[in-house]
Amino acid sequence: MKILGIETSCDETGVAIIEVNPNPPAGGKKLQILSNVVASSLALHSQTGGIIPNVAAREQVKYMIPVLQESLKKASVEIKDIDVIAVTVGPGLIGSLLVGVETARTLAYVLEKPIVPVNHLLGHIYANFISTIDNEPLAISFPAIALIVSGGHTDLVLMKKHGNIVWLGGTRDDAAGEAFDKIGRLLGIPYPAGAKIEEFAKNGNPKAFNFPSPMIYSKDFDFSFSGLKTAVFRETKGLLPTINHEPLTINNICASAQKAIIDVLVAKTIKAAQKYEAKSILLGGGVAANQKLRDEFQLNAKRYELNAKIFAPQKSLCTDNAAMIASAAFFNYKESSWQKIKANPELYFD
Ligand code: KG4
Ligand code: ZN
Repeated sequence: MKILGIETSCDETGVAIIEVNPNPPAGGKKLQILSNVVASSLALHSQTGGIIPNVAAREQVKYMIPVLQESLKKASVEIKDIDVIAVTVGPGLIGSLLVGVETARTLAYVLEKPIVPVNHLLGHIYANFISTIDNEPLAISFPAIALIVSGGHTDLVLMKKHGNIVWLGGTRDDAAGEAFDKIGRLLGIPYPAGAKIEEFAKNGNPKAFNFPSPMIYSKDFDFSFSGLKTAVFRETKGLLPTINHEPLTINNICASAQKAIIDVLVAKTIKAAQKYEAKSILLGGGVAANQKLRDEFQLNAKRYELNAKIFAPQKSLCTDNAAMIASAAFFNYKESSWQKIKANPELYFD
């Protein structure tokens, strides 16, 4: 079976084709990515310091068909050989979502194929089921705690099995990726700033500034990151005019801010894993590409003698892409039709 995935929830336009192998050979993969093409309008957004929704959607209208063509070509698959279409229906920007959803509806109508609607947040979790760095995908066992950390979301969920998800908590204001991006803005780092902050942090001292890790001791599984951005601003504003001449200062601010974000993400996720006796911890979303975050999870899993194994997708599958959408569709297979599906920007975990 071949699944065509489509992802357009934010500023990326992604089309992937994955092949399902029902009886993989020993050591072989059940899901194989034949192609995973992503076009991004990031260059435009870094000029404006963030995403302007109608600019993103206009670019996606331009990219959609060429990205589809490229994905088919790379996979050496003809469109008539696609068995099912998986598409992100939410959450996300309405104009952006509509580009993917209407493309999927048109394809499903013309090809007379079913559609599986996919929650984008589930997609980030299911990136773990097509590829993992340290472990075979099938080594993931339940119950699992999933931490979704992206530019728009920070959520902690309990996964009892495929299709059975309980939301435990999330951010009350900014998402973790948004905190990286806003701190980057203060420091003059172009949007999106996460990867660049990680680079600067490598040469900085994480103890140089004592930035807060908000809500780290709260008893719930919620997060809050807007206070961190304010604290960084307050403590560094005197330094900002000279910062371009002070690489060490910028490295130290980045290392200290990154530490504040990572400490709270790791602490809350580990607390959830202990409470629910998780066997796996699944990281997902753009911030999960951060190597320091991954390393801290491994270190703390050992320190706290967790029974849970830590999984993180291959880095290219952490940020938005369509292969993760096809994967989520496979493991949560609910066929629908072009007449029934519609974009839902407010979609969350039900
Ligand atoms: O998942 P994603 O591509 O888009 C959303 O669904 O939001 O995540 C993008 C976010 C941005 O905020 C970006 O700064 C952050 O992920 N990000 C990182 C890293 N790479 C991307 N944050 C920290 N460290 C990284 N290496
Ligand atoms: Zn995302």
